[in-house]
Amino acid sequence: MADIRKIGMTPQDIGNGFPADALFGTGTSLTFADIIAQPRYNDCDQYSVTCELVPGLTLPLPVISAPMDTVTEWRTAVEIALGGGFGVIHTNLDIATSVEQVERVKRSQMGIVTDPICRRSTDRVTEVDAVKKKHGFSTLLITLDGKPGSHLLGLVAERHSALAEPEETLGNVMIRAEDLVTAQADNIRSWSDAKEFLRRHPMASKVPIVCSEGTVVGMFTDTDVVKMKKSPHAVVDPSSGQLLVGAAVSTHEQDRERIEALLEAGVDLLLIDSAQGSTKYAVEQIRFIRRCNGDIPIVAGNVVTPAQAAPLLKAGANILRVGMGIGSICTTQTVTGVGRGQLSAIYHVAKWVRESEFEATIIADGGIASSGDMFSALACGASAVMLGGYLAGHDETPAEVVPHNGFRYKRYRGMGSPAALVAGGQARYGASSGVLVHQGVEGLVPASGLMAPALTELLAQLTKSMEYVACDSLADLHARLWDGTLRFELRSHGAQREGDVHNLIRI
Ligand code: IMP
Repeated sequence: MADIRKIGMTPQDIGNGFPADALFGTGTSLTFADIIAQPRYNDCDQYSVTCELVPGLTLPLPVISAPMDTVTEWRTAVEIALGGGFGVIHTNLDIATSVEQVERVKRSQMGIVTDPICRRSTDRVTEVDAVKKKHGFSTLLITLDGKPGSHLLGLVAERHSALAEPEETLGNVMIRAEDLVTAQADNIRSWSDAKEFLRRHPMASKVPIVCSEGTVVGMFTDTDVVKMKKSPHAVVDPSSGQLLVGAAVSTHEQDRERIEALLEAGVDLLLIDSAQGSTKYAVEQIRFIRRCNGDIPIVAGNVVTPAQAAPLLKAGANILRVGMGIGSICTTQTVTGVGRGQLSAIYHVAKWVRESEFEATIIADGGIASSGDMFSALACGASAVMLGGYLAGHDETPAEVVPHNGFRYKRYRGMGSPAALVAGGQARYGASSGVLVHQGVEGLVPASGLMAPALTELLAQLTKSMEYVACDSLADLHARLWDGTLRFELRSHGAQREGDVHNLIRI
């Protein structure tokens, strides 16, 4: 523990707890259970945990789902973006499937779709079911050559195909272009324009956007207006109204094709997925992405020290993923003896970033078991948290449900577990020796139902933490962290035990 006089505290003041500086930097790795924030007199009446990951990418709920093959594919990414957070699609997928995953998120709440699914009038009505199976929706535009950019002939929705015989053609059942409400491309430049159009045309439901020659350039629907109203925190692109989504890529040169394809598909963030992410390969990959796109947010990592972080930010990354060997399924520290207690890692990297020439934010990745842990990560300098195990049990994750002893569980595995490595995880955990080094395990987490109510509760819990420490925003929380007015204390084992439910048989 630091000398309190050296850190400018009076003996009288120590009753209020210690500035973070006094607890970290003593040579001990500290993590969630070790530290507790102190409450303060409160004169605020509004609280927000909204984080700005980078300018223009703002999350009302500072939560990101981990790029793991039992956590984040399109359904998780959709739910989390609707709830105010952000999903990152994992890399154990071939390039075409990665792209398809991003497109599915974008199409799930379409806003303004710039490449609507089109078919020819001679195609069979069975196409509607096929499209629904693949993309999750059933409205098709019928154009002259079955593609966007071609002359609009009509529109078919599930209702029309359901009433038809399978051998009938789409042309037979479609609403003809002349009977449709269409919008002129010049009038629809943003999602607000689309909403205004729907207000002025109360009978319109699915609206193709056409240019003056009658060719299709897009589409929007009233379903999305309703969906967006139900999800006030949804993280969307303000111009298109589409949900935002990120995707992971490896440090390997072969993944450049994946990067180009994901950028082409309109991915909103790229994450370079590497267990020890401070390498020349990561730096080269960041430079490559920056050459392709100067603006896309790049998450680099994982790192746990400032020295690891520096080359990544210098190369052009603007978000750091912090955490090593602390995930719930992780054996990295046991296998390699390398890593860091998570709150120490977050604090030291965040402090260094703040004092450096770089503009970057921090995602606290791994080891989070409660909303209290999430708050501790934010209070020690993170702008958002990344969750694997915490989300893995929800219905939307791409993992199998496993019944066990009369209860329902979902499979959850580390990307460095034997099974995930076989499925492609070598990119993150590849071994220079040529022999695979397993750094994760596979297990079960309780099935926990739909994600949406859990995310709503999480936002309320984090807001409650802010209320208790009397900080009205993340900026305020961080300002108090750095000026030392946010106070903490170390917890003894007894205090940890006391802070959890005790002396009770839980029912
Ligand atoms: P959790 O939220 O504690 O379950 O941790 C999730 C995090 O663990 C991920 O975001 C990764 O950083 C990390 N991770 C994923 N798979 C593995 C693995 O197999 N070994 C070590 N760490 C892993």
